[in-house]
Amino acid sequence: MKSICVIGSGYVGLVTATCFADLGNHVVTVDIDARKIDKLKQGIMPIYEPGLEELVERNVKAGRLHFTTSYDDGLAQAQYVFICVGTPSAVDGEADLKYVRAAAQTIAEHMRHPLIIINKSTVPVGTGDWTADIVKKSQPEPVDFAVVSCPEFLREGSAIGDFMSPDRTVLGSTDAAAAQKVAELYEPLKAPIVITDIRTAEMIKYASNAFLATRISFINEISIICERLGADVTEVARGMGYDKRIGPHFLQAGVGYGGSCFPKDVKALANMALTHGMHPQLLNAVMEINDFQRKQIVLKVRDLLGGSLEGKQVGLLGLAFKPNTDDVRDAPALTVARSLMNQGGKVRAYDPVAMETATAELKGLALLDNAYQVAEDADALVIMTDWNEFKQLDMKRIRASMKLPILVDGRNIYDPQVMHDLGFIYRGVGRGYNGEGLHD
Ligand code: UDX
Repeated sequence: MKSICVIGSGYVGLVTATCFADLGNHVVTVDIDARKIDKLKQGIMPIYEPGLEELVERNVKAGRLHFTTSYDDGLAQAQYVFICVGTPSAVDGEADLKYVRAAAQTIAEHMRHPLIIINKSTVPVGTGDWTADIVKKSQPEPVDFAVVSCPEFLREGSAIGDFMSPDRTVLGSTDAAAAQKVAELYEPLKAPIVITDIRTAEMIKYASNAFLATRISFINEISIICERLGADVTEVARGMGYDKRIGPHFLQAGVGYGGSCFPKDVKALANMALTHGMHPQLLNAVMEINDFQRKQIVLKVRDLLGGSLEGKQVGLLGLAFKPNTDDVRDAPALTVARSLMNQGGKVRAYDPVAMETATAELKGLALLDNAYQVAEDADALVIMTDWNEFKQLDMKRIRASMKLPILVDGRNIYDPQVMHDLGFIYRGVGRGYNGEGLHD
């Protein structure tokens, strides 16, 4: 059993703390947000993440997981302290590091014994060195410490599974003994551990996310070519995916990537390149294609409605940036909803869990209780998130209740031929529509 303090109780912090507790460690989570900590103490989760609530409850009951707003309490017994605070995008695309800076400073002010400080927040390459400087400068009395970078690769919606069965753990440090000590925490997970220097570890995180985003933009560009040439991108991706050099993952064409990581990380990496005098051509193209993908959805709806959205009733299915999360940060659905409304459309939407978070982001969006209500009297229906509950809807009933039978399937959930046979004017993404109405 090790003693761990985790700073920050967002996605990364809460999952890290809970999973380390579940592995038998003693963990204290510190957050400066007293309301969040109060709720956590009552067993109320600040985020929606499948399986998290039960796991928190189990570990709190077992006395392994604690929540506090006090750094003193959090650090009292800790051998390790994980920094898991947010790094939002600043206006220029650079990551805003004010929370990381504040966490490093406060740790320094409150540490009374040697500590290994591990950074999990996604930070620009070079931040590890800078964290060590802040800690050194902010300590009232010199106390030994080491900084290790340990980038997080968990995905929202499957965060616990990702933590417990990682593809790899990456550790970066100038202090080999400290990196080895952190490796011991991850050994029970039985995954490969890459130990390298801090800058390389930080770069692995950016390069991994940028590569995945590139795969998505690549298949989205292919989808547009498929549409024009009459091919089906879902079959193209399947055919490509069997090639072991390519693999099947992250080749789903759709409305583009969203969420709290890909948009921010690609932008930040491009910005790092720019500020060092380079021209990030590929990263720029990845971002441009991603923006275009969202615009395409609106263009498709508008074209199918005869060129104008004025007064048209458009139903959106899904608001979260992907299924199994209530996160709407940089969600394609919100961009599309805004654009439809700006062009005179009336938008009604339903999401199984993200309605509350979406209302906070976007005013004027009518929210309904289920997919069928959204479809009723709609001029067009648009699938924005591939939630399971949208995959087996009674499409006959939906078709009958709509004013016009226009279905834009931004996630390619439905079979174009089946939808056509049901009487829909169906448009997926990159699916055999040759510009001349192949399916209607
Ligand atoms: C991502 C990374 O996967 C994770 O390793 C990192 O730590 C944080 O960022 P996350 O943002 O939770 O995780 O979601 P992910 O499942 O990667 O999906 C990101 C976006 O890409 C979603 O909007 C999703 O809908 C989209 N996507 C994903 C596609 O459009 N096509 C695909 O084939 C895969």
